[in-house]
Amino acid sequence: MEQTVQFAKGLEGVIAGESTICKIDGEKGQLYYRGYPIQELAEKTTFEETTYLLLYGELPNRDESVVFSAKMRNARDLSPAVLEMIRNFPEKSHPMELLQSVIAYLSAYVEHKIHHGPHCNCRETLHQVAQLASVVAAYERIRNGLEYVPPKRNLGHGANFLYMLRGEEPTESEGKIMDSALVMHAEHSFNASTFTARVIASTQSTCYSSISGAIGALYGSLHGGANEKVMVMVDEIGTPQNVVPWLDKTLGEGKKVMGMGHRVYKAKDPRSNLMEAYLKELCEAKGDMTYYDILKTLEVETRKRMEQKGKPVYPNVDFFSGAVYRLLGIPTKLFTPIFAMGRVSGWLAHVLEQRIDNRIYRPKALYNGPEPRSLS
Ligand SMILES: CC(C)(COP(=O)(O)OP(=O)(O)OC[C@H]1O[C@@H](n2cnc3c(N)ncnc32)[C@H](O)[C@@H]1OP(=O)(O)O)[C@@H](O)C(=O)NCCC(=O)NCCS
Repeated sequence: MEQTVQFAKGLEGVIAGESTICKIDGEKGQLYYRGYPIQELAEKTTFEETTYLLLYGELPNRDESVVFSAKMRNARDLSPAVLEMIRNFPEKSHPMELLQSVIAYLSAYVEHKIHHGPHCNCRETLHQVAQLASVVAAYERIRNGLEYVPPKRNLGHGANFLYMLRGEEPTESEGKIMDSALVMHAEHSFNASTFTARVIASTQSTCYSSISGAIGALYGSLHGGANEKVMVMVDEIGTPQNVVPWLDKTLGEGKKVMGMGHRVYKAKDPRSNLMEAYLKELCEAKGDMTYYDILKTLEVETRKRMEQKGKPVYPNVDFFSGAVYRLLGIPTKLFTPIFAMGRVSGWLAHVLEQRIDNRIYRPKALYNGPEPRSLS
């Protein structure tokens, strides 16, 4: 007998699949990848190790780590054809549109086959994880009339991205912060882009199609992009002294404070604590605490006002990350592409998991259209 499931707009509360990759405890504000808390992973592992953890289920031992990192680093350099594509891409396009197209294009450069089982060559080549960061860096340089900077194999993933973007090596601390930010963005369960990747994987399409589709989903303003809006807000506020008048006006007009609140977390997003610490470190290194002071005052004052209304809100990962990226010298339009550079590891882990016990996704619609009728 056919089982009927209640209609839930946006699939809210619906369990759409099983997964062993990520656990979120929204009430306690905890996030785990394969059982490890995000705080520990972001502080003690590299993005390459976290990618291995997401794809294989366990952290690599020393030998595995060496082999895996070497494979990923070997896959970083962009081919002349991809560089040509970046140069020829319409100038006004958003970098997310370029990323989506490049990933689809890259599939032509690997053994092209439709996969009928859990194993595919994405574990072997790590092509997409490695190349995304290089494409983002190359996009920015080429748009600014600068030469492509080839990757350096002795640098970790985050540090190499900053090197390819700037043309000079970042400090050790900057490289660590960038790497850690990618770890924090790597996975977040069945969000819209990950679900998109799994739906495409469920049709037995290629992992390149899954990632290209996921990038398209992330491009939407309801998914990626809140940290861009946080920086618009910070620029508008300008000084720590202006936080309170700005906030009272904004809340008075019924507007939201960007980077605060979350659909899943009903406590402070664990990633925002780390981002806050990184922002403080970068502001101290620069000798200018303005961004930190604005955001910290904004957090305290917003929480106070929302608690008085009985609607507590807390900072999410985007609240401090935009300022962190800006202090690393990253332009605002690259914030969502950076999200994709981290999340690609989680997307691939979900593609592989989907293939293990696959069933094509095929929900039903609640039909509200006209009753059957005739043309005559
Ligand atoms: C993320 C978000 C959509 C979560 O939404 P949600 O779980 O549906 O929470 P709600 O919108 O129902 O919030 C409950 C109440 O708190 C208010 N609220 C939530 N977040 C708020 C914020 N950032 N600033 C001011 N008020 C906020 C809502 O207006 C709502 O009040 P109401 O009952 O008078 O309408 C929401 O918090 C938001 O828009 N935040 C800002 C954008 C952002 O940072 N997005 C990135 C998310 S990772």
